[in-house]
Parts: sequence; C-alpha cells; structure tokens
Amino acid sequence: MTEPIRRLALVVGARPNFIKAAPILDALAQIPRIEVTLVHTGQHYDPLLSDVFFDELSMRTPDVHLQVGSGSHAVQTGRVMERFEEFLIAQQNNGRPIDRVVVLGDVNSTLACTLVASKMGIPVAHVEAGLRSFDRTMPEEINRVVTDSLADLLLCSEPAGVENLRREGRGGRQIHLVGNVMIDTLFAFVEKAQNRTILEELNLLPGGYGVVTLHRPSNVDDPDQLRGLIGVMIEISKQLPLVFAVHPRTARALEEAKLKRQTNGSQIIMLGPQGYLDFLALTSQAKLVMTDSGGLQEETTALGIPCLTLRSNTERPITLTEGASMLVGNDFDQLRAGVEAVLDGDYPNGRCPELWDGRAGQRIARILADSLGLPAIEPVPALERAAA
Ligand code: UD1
Ligand code: UDP
Repeated sequence: MTEPIRRLALVVGARPNFIKAAPILDALAQIPRIEVTLVHTGQHYDPLLSDVFFDELSMRTPDVHLQVGSGSHAVQTGRVMERFEEFLIAQQNNGRPIDRVVVLGDVNSTLACTLVASKMGIPVAHVEAGLRSFDRTMPEEINRVVTDSLADLLLCSEPAGVENLRREGRGGRQIHLVGNVMIDTLFAFVEKAQNRTILEELNLLPGGYGVVTLHRPSNVDDPDQLRGLIGVMIEISKQLPLVFAVHPRTARALEEAKLKRQTNGSQIIMLGPQGYLDFLALTSQAKLVMTDSGGLQEETTALGIPCLTLRSNTERPITLTEGASMLVGNDFDQLRAGVEAVLDGDYPNGRCPELWDGRAGQRIARILADSLGLPAIEPVPALERAAA
C-alpha cells in the first residue's frame, strides 16, 4: 500500500530565511509523497530583500504570500498570525490539511507561525533550534525561546543548540544536530558568486577591502551608538577600504540621525542591500568582515574570513570557538585592535565546524520525512545543480 500524501508548510519571511529555505526545499522536492506549500509572510518585501534571493537561488515562487509588510513587533506578529491561521483553516476546509509546519531562524514570522500552528494542534519543526544569546533585550531571543518551547522537532545547527535545549528539559527524539543549512547554500554558490564582476565594478582587489553590515536595533536605533560606529568605520577605512551594504532599517536610522552624508569623501563605499551572489562575492574575497548579523558570523566561519562581531554576545558560540569571529561589542579600541591584528597577519585562523558540510538540507529532509511516517530516500545535494 502506498503512503498517503503528507502536506508540509515551509514558512519564510525575511532575508536570512530565504537563504536557509533553498536547500531544504530542494531536498524535500526529492522525497516522494511530501507536498510542500511555500508560505512567504511578506515581512521583507523590497525586491533586494526578497525577490532577488528567489531568482538567484533558483527557488520557486511562494505558493502563498501573506503580504504583512512592516510594523511594530505586535502589529507584524499579529498580522502574520491572523493571515497564517486563515491559510491553515482554508487548507483544512478544502480537504488538504497541513500535517507539519517548518519554521526557520528567529524572526517575527517564525514566532507568529509557530504560535498559530501549535494552537491548531499542527506539529512544528524549528530549523536552527536551541540558539541562545541569553539576552532578552534582543527581540530574536524572545522569538527563539518561545518557538523552541512549542516546536516538537528541534533541528540544531551547532552543539550549543543541543546543550541549551537539553538544559531546558527537552530531549529524546525531538532534538537533532543537523548542521548549518545556510552553509549548504554558501558552498553551492560560492564559485558562481566569485565569477561576478562586482569587485571590478567597485575597483576592489581580493583581500584588499573589508565588508560592513549593521542592522541590530542595539547598534542602529540609538543615534549616538550609530554615530560612534560610523566614526570608527571612517577611521578604519583609511587603512582598509570598506564596503558597507546598508540594510533599510539602517538607511532610515542614518537618515534620521543626519549621518547619511558623513561618509562622503571617506574610503567607505556605501551600497544598498546586495543580492546573494554579489554579496557573497564581496564577503568571500574580503580581508575582514565587521557585522552584527547572525548569518554573516556563520558564513565567515565557513569561509575562514576574520569577523569582528559588533555585539557583546552571540547565540552562535561556535563562530568564536571554531570560527575566526571575535566579539567586540561596542568597544571601539577592541575593534581597532582586531583590525590591526588582521592587517598584521596576527589573527587566529578558524576552521569550518563539523556538519557545516553542504548536506544539512538533506539531513533535515530525511528527518522531516521520518516524522511524517514516510520512508526517506537519500536526497542528493541538489542545490549544486541549481548553481551550475
Ligand atoms: C528582521 C529580523 C531580524 C533579522 C533581519 C534580517 C525580527 C524581529 N527581526 O529585522 O532578526 O536579522 O530581519 O535582515 O524579525 N524594511 C524595508 N523593506 C523591507 C523590509 C523592511 O524598508 O523589505 C524596513 C522598514 O522600515 C521596517 C524596517 O526595515 O520597519 C525593519 O524591518 P523588520 O522586518 O521589522 O526588521 P529587520 O530590522 O529587517
Ligand atoms: N546578505 C545579503 N546581502 C546583503 C547583506 C546580507 O545577501 O546586503 C545575506 C548574508 O550573506 C546572509 C544573510 O543575508 O546570508 C544574513 O541576513 P541578515 O544579516 O539580514 O540577517 P541575520 O542573519 O542577522 O538574521
């Protein structure tokens, strides 16, 4: 007897979600009798924060778009909840109920969809479970803690995630160390990215510049902190030209703090948000990266690029213990010292963690198939096909 079709909804909402979803979608497409509905909440909607990733990563168009847009935490989370609940109810009413919801990372869309699915009795799988910064001033930490407390399948990217979940009383067959799915995408696309012409267009040589991104509220929503950071970046750029890919939240903060023109005449190249390939071309050939991004801490770890992390804590401790990332918080002396160490060749080399091997998407697909009672075939790392 053949197994019944099992229906799974994969939720994406913000930039890092798209990059994590691509290999999972690819691996799931190879498993018979799983039907995946790709749900885009619309948390990120500018083409350079959303569409470009679908195009460049050869992802299919979302089946459902909830169009929630921006808003305060409560407004955004509430809108996703209302619209995701409507979607799940419609699926039940048309005889195609969703058997499992898969959420990624720690954004508001992750939390909102987990709450809705759990209350409807639909099991939730969380990819990137267990990460903890232990800093509840970060909205993402609240999203992580609540999501993990409700999810029944906890798929971890690094051992600290497993340890945190065990400490919180989770265990048994719920927790799986699957590796880092964002790195699947990176390995699949890095060669293609390095064939882009962005370095030539910006007059940069490999190893001859640094990359900056900032978007954490703790760095950009406080005008004094942002002014200080821009000042120190201008100073650093005298030694090493910098490319700053500015997130819309940061663009707005720079405008409001009247800092927009501050970098004119400096060695900082100000760009808008970049597509995946151009950005990977930039990061993978940089001398160093300065960032408060979660994903970028991990990508620099996989690439072996020094990363000065502009935060005082991280939920991704493996990037410190194995990767070449260093927390500098808002201590600008430590930041300057880190840059000096990199330029002097006196900065520790990192290594790529175990299971950050380009196959996390396959492991996730296999576990999901198993959880739905389906025999899992061995999916091949198909993103490599898409990147060719
Ligand atoms: C969100 C996530 C953060 C993640 C980041 C990835 C939450 C709480 N935060 O932060 O964890 O690291 O995405 O980039 O979920 N905006 C645009 N165009 C867009 C989207 C946003 O201009 O397409 C502007 C709007 O002014 C908006 C602001 O950016 O108010 C913030 O967007 P939002 O999604 O609320 O949070 P992010 O800072 O992007
Ligand atoms: N990224 C990108 N273009 C940019 C900045 C970042 O493609 O201009 C990619 C980056 O390489 C990583 C992901 O976006 O894959 C990280 O997203 P972000 O920093 O927005 O969120 P976080 O990881 O901090 O949640």
